[in-house]
Amino acid sequence: MPDYLWFEGIPFPAVEYEKEIIEKIRDKFVLRDEDTVILTYPKSGSNWLVEIVCLIQTKGNPNWIQSVPIWERSPWLENQGTYPLLINKEGPRLISSHLPFHLFPKSFFSSKAKVIYLIRNPRDVLVSGYFFWSKTKLAKNPDSLRTYFEWFLKGNVMFGSWFEHTRAWLSMRESDNFLLLSYEDMKKDTKSTIKKICDFLGKRLEPDELDMVLKYSSFQAMKENKMSNFSLVPENVASNGLVLLRKGTTGDWKNHFTVAEAEAFDKVFQEKMAGFPPGLFPWE
Ligand code: A3P
Repeated sequence: MPDYLWFEGIPFPAVEYEKEIIEKIRDKFVLRDEDTVILTYPKSGSNWLVEIVCLIQTKGNPNWIQSVPIWERSPWLENQGTYPLLINKEGPRLISSHLPFHLFPKSFFSSKAKVIYLIRNPRDVLVSGYFFWSKTKLAKNPDSLRTYFEWFLKGNVMFGSWFEHTRAWLSMRESDNFLLLSYEDMKKDTKSTIKKICDFLGKRLEPDELDMVLKYSSFQAMKENKMSNFSLVPENVASNGLVLLRKGTTGDWKNHFTVAEAEAFDKVFQEKMAGFPPGLFPWE
C-alpha cells in the first residue's frame, strides 16, 4: 500500500493525484463567476450535497442523476481523472473539491464563483473516514480505529487536519459568495437546507419540485442509485465492499470512541477551534 502524496504539508491520496496538477490548479485554474463549488473536508456529506444541487438544477427531475456518474456531474477539481472534464466544460460548472484553503485556485478570490462549504461533526467524519478509506487503495490504511484516531488528531490523514481545513475555510463565512452548511442541520431539516441552497444559488422551486429533490436525494434513494453510490468506482481505487452510503446518521462516533478518546478529542477540539462563536458548530 503506498504512503500519501505529500504536497505543501498536505497528505493527498497516493493514487489518482499528482503534484503538478495540484500546483497548476492553485496557480492557473480560472474559476468563472457562474461556477458553483461544493467544498468539504472528506466524509462530511459531500456527495449528498452534490446530489441535492444536481436535483435543484433539474427541478427534481431524476434523469440526470440516474444516468450520469456523480463525479461527472460535479467533477473533483484536484483529481487527475476528473480535472480535465472541468477545463473543457462550457457554461456554468458544478465543481467538487476537498482542497484546503491555501491550495484552492487563487482566481477564486477575485471572482464571484460561489462556494458551499459543508461541515460535519469531526468525530463522525473520523469514523466515516476510517470505514471508507479502509476499503480503498488510495493510501496506507491504519490497522485499527485506535491508530486512525491518532493520525486524525495529528492531521496525518487524507487532505490533512480537519481543524486546519475548517478554521481556514470558515474565515470566508461572512462573504456573499460563501454558504456555510452543516450535515447535522441537513439531517434535522433537509427541506429548509434545500431552500437555503436555492436562495444562495438564485433558484426557485415549486413545492412539488422541492418534494422531488427531497425524495431522490434521500439516503435510501442514493443507496440504490448506482450513479451515486460508488458501485462504479474503478478497481484501481476501490477494494471489495466499498460503501459510500454506510449509515448516514449523526453521532455514530459514540458507538466507536472509548471514554478516554472522547475526552481527548474534546480537549483538542476546544484548543484548536477556540475563538469561533458558540453555535457555529451545531453538534457541540
Ligand atoms: P457515514 O459513513 O457516517 O454513513 P462524503 O460524501 O463526504 O464522502 O460523505 C459520506 C457520508 O455521507 C457517509 O456517512 C454517508 O452515509 C453520508 N451520506 C451520503 N449520502 C447521504 C444521504 N442521502 N443522507 C444522509 N447521509 C448521507
